[in-house]
This record gives sequence, structure tokens and C-alpha cells, in this order.
Amino acid sequence: MIRVLVPLVLLLAACTTPVQDEAWEGIGPITFVDGRDTTADRRVAEMVERWNERAGQREQAKFVEMPSSTDAHRAQLTARAQDLAGVRGSAECYDVMAVDTVWTAEFAAAGHLEPLDPAEFGVDRMLPKAVEAARSPDGEQLWAIPWRSDAGLLYYREDVLKQAGVDPPTTWAGLRRQATEIAPRHGLAGYVGQFRLYEGLIVNAAEAIWAHDGDLEHPDEPGAKAGVRALAEGIEQGWIPRETLDYDENASLDEFRSGRALFMRNWPYAGPVLNRPGSEVVGKWAKVALPGPSTLGGWNLAVSRCSPHQKTAREFIKFVTGDANQREMSRLAGFAPTSTDLYDEPGLAADPLRESLLNARTRPPSAHYDELTSVMQDTLHHVLKNPAAIDRSLDQLADDLARAKGGR
Ligand code: GLC
Repeated sequence: MIRVLVPLVLLLAACTTPVQDEAWEGIGPITFVDGRDTTADRRVAEMVERWNERAGQREQAKFVEMPSSTDAHRAQLTARAQDLAGVRGSAECYDVMAVDTVWTAEFAAAGHLEPLDPAEFGVDRMLPKAVEAARSPDGEQLWAIPWRSDAGLLYYREDVLKQAGVDPPTTWAGLRRQATEIAPRHGLAGYVGQFRLYEGLIVNAAEAIWAHDGDLEHPDEPGAKAGVRALAEGIEQGWIPRETLDYDENASLDEFRSGRALFMRNWPYAGPVLNRPGSEVVGKWAKVALPGPSTLGGWNLAVSRCSPHQKTAREFIKFVTGDANQREMSRLAGFAPTSTDLYDEPGLAADPLRESLLNARTRPPSAHYDELTSVMQDTLHHVLKNPAAIDRSLDQLADDLARAKGGR
């Protein structure tokens, strides 16, 4: 009997092994990379823990944090992807990458990403502008799944404006007036935003330009010049503190949170941070849409081509971008969901974020966005410090942009 069974068992083993391998193919531990977790109470790290609790031992995710500036984040992801170009299945690979909406086209064009099936992730339920930015220009391929969207908001000291008997501003002129007149009476800085030499500067400059009916892509036209001039004059006059030339999102948030500014432009994640213990403005702040269109921000999740565990990577992305997790991250971390239905639920239906997102405008979609933004950043930072150079420098920028767009 035993003599018959042994070969039978061996034969069965021989038959099942390849089938099993196939079943496990693409399944295994993954590395998930996002920017530094600046959410109140480290909600992104906690979300990865939630995945790890429900995923089996085989599919654990390791969370790696990049620098919080999107430019430095991009540079590090690019360096790793280039090192592993052409390699399939490396343990060094960043399996799932959070990629800023502005860099997605570039990552896709460089061949770092795996195409994804829209139906598998239900992208039909997501904000069309966010999905469009994750597709190839011809719309054929989907390269990433929109996870959290982003739109700017104007945070303000509700206690101070109430005392002054005014509503929050709805125009740039109103913002300037209140920041100039009311803030000094309370020993506050007027308006803080993000004017450091990095991508956040483009976001803020674009918003000022659009608020003055200009076009970011045509900086030599009057509207664009008026928008940039409004910022430069604000810095010159002091209602926008000069220190903001070195502020990113976190620096401006610190300033507002410490009770030192009347107005702040920031993303939705700032709200929960302002309510944390240690904040000087708990119960004293409120938010409205910006006095003009916001820049559409946001982060997509992509599967790296070098990933050995692409099935797990896709399952992880489904978990993170699913409605249940998006709802949770909106409530806990203030993230702007990409799932449109969630905006009709009580938590968001009355939130100014909804209006801000609906009116948000995109930065120029391009696989060469890094070149476009670096010329724009240099010029804009220079003219914010030297308003006299605005006319000449923005005319020059228009030429430089045309060249960069042509890839020259
Ligand atoms: C936020 C936005 C992103 C933008 C960045 C600029 O992270 O989501 O799109 O590029 O801020 O600092």
C-alpha cells in the first residue's frame, strides 16, 4: 500500500506545485512610499497598520516616508526607479508609490509604472479631473489611481474677524484690505502662504494669477503680471511677511497654528492639525474657499514596474482608494477624497472644500513638467523679491516656457 501511495503523493506534488506558484505569483511583501506623514496623529502610518492587520503574513506593507516637499519626493522616487530600470522583481523596488498628480505623466513616460485596469479600481466613481491627470494624453492607458485630491482653502481667525464685524474675504482686494487693516491691530501677520523655491510656489502663484484673470501658461499677459504683482507688493508692503519666501506648507501651518497670522492658504490636511492639542487656535479658526480658483493638487497611487509583488500592490491600492478608507481618511486626516459620492455625505456636503475642488484648475499636464516648473519657480521666486523685474522677467519666462514645452 505504502509503495503505491508514495509515488502517488509525489505525482500529486509535481502537479500542484506549478499551479500553486501561479496562485502566489505577484503576492508578497511590498514597500509603500508616500511623503512625510504630516497628518494630525500620523494617520497615514496608521492606515498602513490597518492594512497589515487584515492582510496575511505574506502581504505586509512597509511604509517608507519621503521628504515632505513634493520636489524632493519626486527626485528620490526617480533616482530609485532609474537605478532599477529594466529590472523586474527587485526587493529594492518601491512597489507602490504615491506620485503627485503633476509628476504622474513624467513617471509614466519614463516607463517606471505598470498600466492599470480602470475597471479593477472603479475609477468611474472618481473626480474626472483627477482621473484624467492619471491617464496617458490619448486617454488609452491608466497609470495610477487617484487616492487623495487636494484643493487650497483660506483658513482665517474667526474670532478676530467677528470682533471686527466682517465676513471672510471673497476677493483678493478684500483679503488685502483685511490683512492690512485688521491684522496689525491684533499683532498678527496678515497672510501666510507657500512662497519658498519649490512646487508650492507654483501652486500659490497660479492661484494669485487666476484670481487676477491671468493664465499661468502665459505669464507675459496682463492678468498674470497683475497676479504676480499682487503677491510681490504684498511682500513689499508687509501684509505678506517676507519670511514666507522661505515657507512651505508646514512652515505656514506652524505660523498660523501658533496664533501669529490672520489668514493662511493651505491644503485640507491642515484642519485636523489646527485642532490638535498644542495648537493656539483651537476653536478660533474657520475656513472658506480661496478668493479665486484653487490649484488642483493631489496624489495618485502607482504600481512600479520593478515590483515583484504586483498583485499585492494592486490589492493594497484597492484598499487605500476604496470608499471606506477614503471616508476614514477624510474624517481623520482631512484628506480630500477622490470618490465623488463622498462629497454628498454629511461630513463633506457643507465643507468649502467641495466648492474649492469643483472650481480647481490644473497645472499644465506634461511629461516635461519638471522642466516647466523649474523655470517658473526660478523666475517667480526672483520677482517676488524684486518686483521691479516683474515685466521683463515674466516676458522672458513666456519665451522660456515655450522652449521648455518644445522639449528644447
Ligand atoms: C500638495 C498637493 C500637490 C502639490 C504640492 C505642492 O501636496 O497635493 O499636488 O504639488 O502640495 O507643495
